[in-house]
Amino acid sequence: MSTAHEPLLKVEKLNKSYGRGMSTKNRVQILHDVSFELRRGQTLGLVGESGSGKSTTASCVMGLTGADSGLIEFDGVDLTKLKKAEMRRMRRRIQMVFQDPNGSLDPRFTVADLVEEPLIIHGASDSAERSRRVEEVLDRVGITVKQAQRYPFAFSGGQRQRIAIARALVLKPDLVVLDEPVSALDVSIQAQVLNLLSDLQDELGLTYLFIVHDLAVARLMSHDIAVMNGGRIVEAGTSTEVFENTSHPYTRALLDAVPGARRRAKALAAAGDGPSQEGL
Ligand SMILES: Nc1ncnc2c1ncn2[C@@H]1O[C@H](COP(=O)(O)OP(=O)(O)OP(=O)(O)O)[C@@H](O)[C@H]1O
Ligand SMILES: [Mg+2]
Repeated sequence: MSTAHEPLLKVEKLNKSYGRGMSTKNRVQILHDVSFELRRGQTLGLVGESGSGKSTTASCVMGLTGADSGLIEFDGVDLTKLKKAEMRRMRRRIQMVFQDPNGSLDPRFTVADLVEEPLIIHGASDSAERSRRVEEVLDRVGITVKQAQRYPFAFSGGQRQRIAIARALVLKPDLVVLDEPVSALDVSIQAQVLNLLSDLQDELGLTYLFIVHDLAVARLMSHDIAVMNGGRIVEAGTSTEVFENTSHPYTRALLDAVPGARRRAKALAAAGDGPSQEGL
């Protein structure tokens, strides 16, 4: 087991291509030697424009797609070397929240069933214990037992994302990969959900890989930042370093492209309570 601030996730020289066959002629290289470290209990903001390879990186970390080469070390274990059954056991400790809760919450099930499902999949056999756990985690994200008997369509976008967060947390993971978790939400709701994520991180010691294109949100939520462009990490450092002393022209251009980023970060900080508000 690693201790606080040691890397929980270490990605080294990750390469990924899509296409037919092995010939490079028929393949498009998406990720080029992507490397980063994520320390236990902290948040790494992975930023970059659309198509830069953020979600592909997340898919590789989650084992949803295989990497061509490279290392994905989680708590000292290289995930790329694991057999299917071993990866399944490890997946309990690595959970994901997607941008669109509608896609991740099956409309045919009640919220209570949806949050219980991961426990069943991972073999929790005591049904009373499962119900207790479901109730506890739903209560933590602000959904009552009574509400949980309803179906996802009966909830607002913000509530649905809270339910998706509960579903991700019910197995008590160490690492949560958040892929644009608030991008589909109204700004006022964004702040509430970000606040909830921050509180949960503090309470449960969670480690977040936070994929986001909104630089204000990235700055508010992240201890460290990695900037992606064209499938490469072009800049990395602490949030303050990257946002205050940007060295890479691409990051500069990203920052200049959103003149409201600073103001929005302040507004979000006033509503939320992220880790990196100094110097805003
Ligand atoms: N299954 C796939 N087959 C072929 N190409 C893919 C596949 N998935 C992603 N790509 C390509 O990989 C590149 C990176 O996509 P990715 O989804 O990782 O970007 P992203 O940074 O998450 O973008 P966004 O901010 O829009 O979500 C894109 O050019 C995309 O078209
Ligand atoms: Mg994406």
